[in-house]
Amino acid sequence: MRALIVGGGGREHALAWCLSQSPALEALYVAPGNPGTATLAENVPLDLPAIPGFCREHRIDLVIPGPEAPLVAGLADGLAAAGIPCCGPTAAAARLEGSKLFAKQICDEAGIPTAAWERFDDPHAALDFARRRGAPLVIKADGLAAGKGVTVAATIEEAEAAIRAAMLERAHGDAGRTILIEECLEGDEVSLFALCDGERAALLGAAQDHKRLLDGDRGPNTGGMGAISPPPHFPLEAQLAALDLFVRPALAALARAGTPFRGILFAGLMLTAAGPKLIEYNVRLGDPEAQTLLPRLGADLLPALAAAAAGTLAETALPLRDIATASVVIAARGYPVAPVRGGTIHLDRATLIPHTAIFHAGTTLTDGQLRAAGGRVLTVTGTGPTLAAARAAAYEAAAQIHYEDAIYRTDIGARALAHRAA
Ligand code: AMP
Ligand code: GLY
Repeated sequence: MRALIVGGGGREHALAWCLSQSPALEALYVAPGNPGTATLAENVPLDLPAIPGFCREHRIDLVIPGPEAPLVAGLADGLAAAGIPCCGPTAAAARLEGSKLFAKQICDEAGIPTAAWERFDDPHAALDFARRRGAPLVIKADGLAAGKGVTVAATIEEAEAAIRAAMLERAHGDAGRTILIEECLEGDEVSLFALCDGERAALLGAAQDHKRLLDGDRGPNTGGMGAISPPPHFPLEAQLAALDLFVRPALAALARAGTPFRGILFAGLMLTAAGPKLIEYNVRLGDPEAQTLLPRLGADLLPALAAAAAGTLAETALPLRDIATASVVIAARGYPVAPVRGGTIHLDRATLIPHTAIFHAGTTLTDGQLRAAGGRVLTVTGTGPTLAAARAAAYEAAAQIHYEDAIYRTDIGARALAHRAA
């Protein structure tokens, strides 16, 4: 198979690393890729409209989109029109992530457990409702807002500020024209991944993200500062039950609406005292969840992705190796608001640490020098027989990375370990 991965972050490097081990692979391209993917595949600088033409010219058998934005913008539709298989949803099905309102409507129609919600198009009605309800509340811009559209408000002042920012100041542009106000769920958060072919779903696995910037789950929300797999309190039986509760009914509802979902469906779940509830859907792998989940895969991912794209998926779960992984995101000082760019990075000593893999995200390579070029710069994944061993490996490698602007959490997986000890 000749495959093209779309994207250039840590998730895409992990995908390239995983697919490059497939005996079925003949050629691998990544658009645009990063210095990490360049060691495994050919990086190609393509903008969205150029992708179908590139695929025809290079006889690509399968396109694997990493991030959501190209999917919401219609990448899969363009590829379908050109007859090129794509393991990602059409723009219509990608609304599951692109519009939080659409996702909630699917939940209600399909009886999927989720936080209670109200929709608002008028700021004064939203403010009124929030004051009547009282904190805590969750305020969400309807559209894509680069991970910044959600405020978990512990006080009514925070809730009001978030409503004003979204609806009056348009802090998230048109994404905040409509907002949702949600009940605040409490519990452990887990990410569930399923491969879907329009009708059928196969379990890919689960992981736990660490969204807050700082140790102890403090500071602002980020794209994710680290992840572990398997997640605590979410055994295989619970994952399979969650597939029936959160994935299959959504697939059926989308198929009924004439917009079947192909690709990877990511259900963000809160394990509440009243059972798991949906926080949100994403239409792709997570980042850094991919870097933590894919190293556990015990089967060839490429044929499974191709089967999902072709509509011929088997419903059996993909086997995961019985090992633990822990991924630590190395970000640039100033992330997520204003990350410092340009700092030099030396990885030589870190790459010598056994049972680790280093995935690139915001890096560039010029004249042989690796430099930081984004907010999340690298992900270090450790593997081991236990979470403690996986963490130790990841942190040993992280400590050997020479990069002055590096910031990272020192407690990835610590809460899970403490739970287990107790
Ligand atoms: P998102 O930007 O949609 O990934 O949401 C960011 C984070 O906000 C989620 O990962 C949760 O930690 C939190 N969150 C979103 N909705 C809720 C909710 N209804 N209750 C509690 N936390 C939530
Ligand atoms: N780590 C969460 C996400 O990829 O959205």
